[in-house]
Amino acid sequence: MSRILVTGSADGLGRAAAASLPAAGHEVVVHARDKRRAAGLDPLTVRGAGIVVGDFTERDVVGDFTERDVVGDFTERDAVRRVAAELSGSAPLDAVVHNAGVWSGPAVMPVNVIAPYLLTALLPGPRRLVYLSSGSHFRGRPRLGGVDWRGRTAGSYADSKLFVTTLAAAVARLRPGVLSNAVDPGWVPTRMGGPNAPDDLELGHETQAWLAAGDDPRALTSGRYRYHRRLREPHRAVHDTAFQTRLLHALAEETGAAL
Ligand SMILES: NC(=O)c1ccc[n+]([C@@H]2O[C@H](COP(=O)([O-])OP(=O)(O)OC[C@H]3O[C@@H](n4cnc5c(N)ncnc54)[C@H](OP(=O)(O)O)[C@@H]3O)[C@@H](O)[C@H]2O)c1
Repeated sequence: MSRILVTGSADGLGRAAAASLPAAGHEVVVHARDKRRAAGLDPLTVRGAGIVVGDFTERDVVGDFTERDVVGDFTERDAVRRVAAELSGSAPLDAVVHNAGVWSGPAVMPVNVIAPYLLTALLPGPRRLVYLSSGSHFRGRPRLGGVDWRGRTAGSYADSKLFVTTLAAAVARLRPGVLSNAVDPGWVPTRMGGPNAPDDLELGHETQAWLAAGDDPRALTSGRYRYHRRLREPHRAVHDTAFQTRLLHALAEETGAAL
């Protein structure tokens, strides 16, 4: 049995991944942005999941905290830090699926990159890390000058997914005992993907659970990029150690937290 945090599990791929894990005997720590969104997680908790309530954009949504409840806001760094602290004080996590994400707007860099970076830096315990990438990362630019990490302006989704895919590869390189991988779920019909997305929603989430908790030897890789379990070659910047170093340096400088 593994204990797995899935961020952004109130909806879409995160919800589907979280819902699939209790049936396989795992404990899931689910996460929603606020109490209202958390209310929709009740059916999952009935199936054996815990609750982390973390609004990554609203600073003041702070609810009751129990071992299974954490409240935070992923565009608010202090809230992400608090979520990490509260999780550190509860039963250890075996894996984290860094799923929460937004497609556009000022929250892109804070939610898609800063929140998974901070959780990775502040929660060193989990031995398996899964980062949600995207085919869009191939259009990302490996340039860090002028990136608005604080989300004062709209961020580039493609850049954010290149950065988080690079983060996954860098963590794999720097933490040899940790399995850290990135997944492109395909273009699937969630709120983000839209109703006409052509890819398979089921295949879009099962790779995350397979990497986070599976005992299939093929899942025990690190530093890889996958689409529907299959290995794919990511953007060439992802394995460029000079770019990895520059990215980690920028994120550490920006957040004050080093990996
Ligand atoms: N759908 C696709 O075709 C596709 C393709 C490639 C990659 N992806 C990636 O897959 C991941 C999941 O996407 P999805 O399609 O499932 O999207 P979705 O249906 O829009 O769900 C996104 C999840 O992230 C949460 N979230 C967003 N902003 C947040 C914030 N500020 N604080 C806390 N939680 C926040 C959402 O909570 P709320 O519901 O409360 O907003 C929701 O649970 C993302 O990282 C996305 O980039 C998706």
